[in-house]
Amino acid sequence: MSKDKNIFKATWAYADAPESTDHIKIKKQYELFIDGEFVKPSKKKYFDTIDPSNQKKIASIAEASSDDIDKAVAAANKAFTSWSKLPGKERGKYIFRIARLIQERAREFAVIESLDGGKPIRESRDIDIPLAASHFFYYAGWADKLEYAFPNRKVKPVGVAGQIIPWNFPLLMAAWKIAPALATGNTVVLKPAETTSLTALKLAEIIEESGLPKGVVNIVTGAGETGAAIVNHPDVDKIAFTGSTGVGKYIQKATAGTAKKLTLELGGKGANIIFEDAAIDQAVEGIVNAIFFNQGHVCCAGSRLFVQESVADVVIQKLKSRMETLIVGNPLDKNTDIGAINSAKQLKTIKDYIKIGLNEGGEIYQPNCKFPKNGNWCAPTLFLNVSQSHRIVQEEIFGPVLAVQTFRTIDEVVEKANNTPFGLSAGVWTQKGSKIFNLTQRLNAGVVWGNTFNKFDPTSPFGGYKESGFGREGGLHGLRGYVKFD
Ligand code: NAI
Ligand code: MG
Repeated sequence: MSKDKNIFKATWAYADAPESTDHIKIKKQYELFIDGEFVKPSKKKYFDTIDPSNQKKIASIAEASSDDIDKAVAAANKAFTSWSKLPGKERGKYIFRIARLIQERAREFAVIESLDGGKPIRESRDIDIPLAASHFFYYAGWADKLEYAFPNRKVKPVGVAGQIIPWNFPLLMAAWKIAPALATGNTVVLKPAETTSLTALKLAEIIEESGLPKGVVNIVTGAGETGAAIVNHPDVDKIAFTGSTGVGKYIQKATAGTAKKLTLELGGKGANIIFEDAAIDQAVEGIVNAIFFNQGHVCCAGSRLFVQESVADVVIQKLKSRMETLIVGNPLDKNTDIGAINSAKQLKTIKDYIKIGLNEGGEIYQPNCKFPKNGNWCAPTLFLNVSQSHRIVQEEIFGPVLAVQTFRTIDEVVEKANNTPFGLSAGVWTQKGSKIFNLTQRLNAGVVWGNTFNKFDPTSPFGGYKESGFGREGGLHGLRGYVKFD
C-alpha cells in the first residue's frame, strides 16, 4: 500500500470514531420539494454536489427550471390563504417542532454540512447547527406575540417570500430566512446555493415530517438561473437575498419598480481594531477567529486588521506563531481548524487575490501546511505592508487572507476602518468600555463586536450599510422584512 493510501485510511479511521458517516442517510439523487412532495425537475436535469475536501461526488441534485419555479410559487401562493389566517399560536407550534427536529438530527446535519461544504466539523457541530435550531426556537416564540413586536399597528404578512442563500452557512442561512417568514405568516420558496444543497434538502425532509401544511415551504435547487427565476417571478412578494454584492445589485435592479419587498445581505470587509491597552493574547485569538473561522468564508469576517503601532510588533509576532499551530485538513476531523475551501471556483478567486496582493507589494506570511491530496486547500495567510488603496484591503476575498495595517490615533483608525465600499462588521479590542462605545458610534458597520468577534445570537439584529446591503435579519428587527402594515 502506498504512503498516500495509508494517509487516506488513517484519516477515515479517525473519522470513523466520533464523526463516522455510517448511519448518515445521504441519497444518490435529490428531487425538488414542492407543495409538500419531493418531485422530479421538469427538464429532468441534475447537477453534482461534491465534497470539496476530496473532489468526490456526493449526490445528484435536481436543477429547477422556470417551470418548476412557477409550480413552487403557485404552491406557496395557494398555501398562503390558510397559513396566513392560522392563529400565531398554531403557526408557532409547527416552528417549534421544526426546531426540535433539527436538534434531534443535529449530528446528521453537522456531518452533512461539513461533507458538502468543507467547514470543520467542530464549527458545524458547535455553531451552525445549534444556532439554526435556536433561530427556529426564537422566531417560534414571536409567532403569537406580533402585536407586542409592533404595538398599535395592524400587521399583515407580505405573501410569498423568495429566499436565495449562499454556501458559507447553508443550514443557518436557511433558518435565518425561513423562521421569521413563517412566524409572521408568509409562505416560502427557498433556493440553497448550488455547492451546498444537502442540508436544505434534509431540512425539507424535517419540514415534511413536522406536518407543516403543504406548500408553506418549498425548497428548490439550482444555480443562478434558478435564483433569477425566483427573483423575476411576478407572484413573489418579497425577496430576501444573501450573497455577493454583484448578484445583490442585479436583484436590486430586477426588483426596482415592482411591488416586491427586498432585503439584501451582501459582502463585507470588516475592520478588527486592536488598541495598545487590549489583552493581547485574547486579541490574538480574536484575530484568528475573526479571519480563519469557516476558512474566511464569512461576510462579516475581520479581514482587515488594524493594530496600534506601539503593540504592532508583539501582536504580529504572536499572530504568526499562533498561525503555525492551525491545522488545515479533513473537515470531518474534530481537530481541524481550517477545512476545505468551498469550491474550486472560490479557491481560484482567493489565489488570484493572493497574487494581486504580492503584485501590489504586500509582504506575505503563510505557515508551512501539509494539505491532504485532491481537495481545495488554502493556508492561513496574512499580508503586511499594505495600504488603504490596495485591492486586497478594499475588496472582499472571502478566504483565509488577512490584510494587516497599523495606526496611531483613534481618528486615524476610524477613518481607515470606514474607508471601503462596505459596512457590515467591525471589532474593537481594548480594556476601556468608553473607547468601545466611542467607536460603535463612529464605525459605519451594522455589527460592532467588543473584545470578541463572529459571535451570533438569534436575538440580535444583523445587516449592513453601504454596499453590504440593507434590512436586518435576527431579533425583533428581523420580523420587519416580512410584514406590512395596514
Ligand atoms: P453568488 O452571489 O453568486 O451566490 C449566492 C447565491 O445567489 C447562490 O444561491 C446563487 O445560486 C445565487 N445566484 C447567483 N446568481 C444569481 C442571480 N442572477 N439571481 C438570483 N440568484 C443568483 O456568490 P458566489 O459566486 O458563489 O461567490 C462570489 C463571491 O461572493 C464570494 O467570493 C464572496 O466574496 C461573495 N459572497 C458573499 C456572501 C455573503 O455572505 N455576503 C456569500 C457568498 C458569496
Ligand atoms: Mg458540495
